[in-house]
Amino acid sequence: MYIFKSKYSINPKKIDNLYFSKNQSLSGRVTVPGDKSISQRALIISLISCGKTIIEDILDSEDVYHTLNAVKELGANVKKKSGVLEVKGIGIGNLLSPSKPIYMGNSGTGTRLLLGLVAGSNALVTFYGDESLTNRPMERVVSPLLEMGASVISAKNTKLPITISGARLKGFTLPIDYKLLTPSAQVKSAILLAALSARGNSFVTEYKETRNYTERMLKGSGVSIQVNKKNKNKRVISIKGTSFIKSKNIKVAGDPSSAVFLAVAAIITKKSSISIENVLLDKFRLTVFETLKKMGANIRIIKENGSQCKIIVKSSKLKNILVKSNKSSSLIDEYPILSIAAACGSGDMVMEGLSELRFKESDRYRAIINGLNKAGVTAVGYKDSIKIIGKKSIKGGCTINAENDHRIAMSFNILSLVSEKPIFVKGNRSICTSFPSFFDTLKSLGVASSFYERN
Ligand code: S3P
Repeated sequence: MYIFKSKYSINPKKIDNLYFSKNQSLSGRVTVPGDKSISQRALIISLISCGKTIIEDILDSEDVYHTLNAVKELGANVKKKSGVLEVKGIGIGNLLSPSKPIYMGNSGTGTRLLLGLVAGSNALVTFYGDESLTNRPMERVVSPLLEMGASVISAKNTKLPITISGARLKGFTLPIDYKLLTPSAQVKSAILLAALSARGNSFVTEYKETRNYTERMLKGSGVSIQVNKKNKNKRVISIKGTSFIKSKNIKVAGDPSSAVFLAVAAIITKKSSISIENVLLDKFRLTVFETLKKMGANIRIIKENGSQCKIIVKSSKLKNILVKSNKSSSLIDEYPILSIAAACGSGDMVMEGLSELRFKESDRYRAIINGLNKAGVTAVGYKDSIKIIGKKSIKGGCTINAENDHRIAMSFNILSLVSEKPIFVKGNRSICTSFPSFFDTLKSLGVASSFYERN
């Protein structure tokens, strides 16, 4: 399930049985696939733009494939031209109502943003997803969209499948003044996309910074959107409803959240030295690299051009630290791999403010603690914190069930590189949602994977 066929040498069905063993070093230069958040937003915004949008270097993964499919169902005309997508938008207010429910796979971002877009339209759409997505909370996004005039029918506890009919089926989209008490770029983005079709100004107040690509990309397409920074954390985003969004071509930079798996692999193994060359230059998303540097990691970030950087990483001795809750929204996707780094560091690592980890592709709070304990590393949870006691030697010799969660799968594969006995991950297949070339990229850096025959 990819956008461009036959790009990956490893058959996604086979990746389930791959694992890494100990005593391997990484060396060389690589690039990482496009940023997942930006790739999905590029598709969604190009759907409602007037004219053609050329998207270069889009992430070719299962999540993006599902969002692309949804965008086509909603009316976009998409052409593939040698690795580049050309999306012909239909403007705002012209979304189609597909005759069949739309399958979103594992993609929380695609689903939540599209719920927002449909909420402000006159379309009627049903979304459903895989087991993991079906279990994720949608109330947080549905609640403001109802306030804006959308109607929703859903499964129990406001979970998928969800049928949403846009506010404009019965009247106008109502502007909203929404306080985002739980930080979430997805909820913020859903509201902003719905607000595009409201008459007048809508406001979203956030109390912790979250990734801001929806704001930046809409602004670049001519939408009147302002961010008013009230203090270090509080921001009010105001957006004015519009009838016109101009198309803007985009080249997607490499995903920092994928790059960090390679970086931690290089840090914890011996005699490693790698360069990751096309990473999105965004201070907010690079917080994990700053955190690793604070732990003593040998990392250099070199600005390459306006929007990309090169990250040079070498084997390092890590010292565990306290990671406070004010960092949690900028590290939200990185706690699983940061926990692997902590398992290899010296001393205690305490990570605070992790309540949102329970609502990701799996319950990552539980997955980190259980997985590390299984691998012989002491990890304990207390309220919203996790404490990990770093170890010189990691036992391994266990099987971790990734439970449809790509970041849990990649994290424990990386831990296997330094474990006495290999760690087998059940559910490597989930890696294809964000980083299908994970094993290939590590192979190009000199890391061999073995094939595990399951019985
Ligand atoms: C994302 C926002 C975050 C993040 C997810 C991608 C986005 O989720 O965890 O992987 O692209 O907006 P939340 O909005 O739920 O924090």
